[in-house]
Amino acid sequence: MEKRKPVTTSKLKKMKTDGVPISVITAYDYPSAVLAEEAGVDVILVGDSLGNVVLGYDSTVPVTLDDMVYHTRAVVRGAKSTFVVADLPFMTYHGSIDQTLRNAARLMQEGVAHAVKMEGGAEIAEAVAACTRAGIPVMGHIGLTPQSIHQIGGYKIQGKNSESARKLLEDAKALEQAGAFAVVLELMTEQLAAHISEELSIPTIGIGAGPHCDGQVLVFHDALGYASNIVPKRFVKEYASIGDTVRKGLIKYVEEVKNREFPAPSHSFQMEEEVAEFLYGSKK
Ligand code: KIV
Repeated sequence: MEKRKPVTTSKLKKMKTDGVPISVITAYDYPSAVLAEEAGVDVILVGDSLGNVVLGYDSTVPVTLDDMVYHTRAVVRGAKSTFVVADLPFMTYHGSIDQTLRNAARLMQEGVAHAVKMEGGAEIAEAVAACTRAGIPVMGHIGLTPQSIHQIGGYKIQGKNSESARKLLEDAKALEQAGAFAVVLELMTEQLAAHISEELSIPTIGIGAGPHCDGQVLVFHDALGYASNIVPKRFVKEYASIGDTVRKGLIKYVEEVKNREFPAPSHSFQMEEEVAEFLYGSKK
């Protein structure tokens, strides 16, 4: 396969201008990053959905900055030409600007991410601007913002009435103004997502936001049917059922260990005859 040039923020912007859809998938470890890159994914998001699908929490709230650094490093090792964005987790960008910059810097320096993602609109524009001024590319995230799930009160479609739709458009513009290079639009009507996408010059990446965004993102485990503990959602399409494949393989393994079918002679190593003779006087 021909080596691809590394994906950059300017390439992503050009893809929007040229009308080329941007493919984004989450990943949390080395093997999934290798596979995503081999598949030609443009951007890997090391999402804090890590909390749900890898760590077994029931929300993203318990995910720590240390968790994100650890998983981002593994992903970056597996994806050499893919643009890697890492989520700043819950409450790591709501304190002082100084603390926000330190936290974002950890994802860039220790995690070796290419960019960070933050959830929220106009209210976090100052934090976004501080990061972009410091040379840290920021992806915004509006609509359903999972870090605020307890405040929102569940996975509900956002921007359904005119007031909240207008607020989401303003939030998107505030993020663009603050220097964000892209913005995730999660769980909103396709008409609102289309309108926001038209109004912005930066790419929009949709999840549950219809077909008119500049790109699409799905959670790895949801898209591949890999034992996700996130409640199934109508906007997710399952492209494989790797959970079933893994389960069948494990059941077979347990069965073969129990009935001594595994390991077979082909998986075992034989002792040299003279060593056997030295030890036991004959080959066992
Ligand atoms: O954490 C995550 O995986 C995300 C995507 C759902 C956009 O934020």
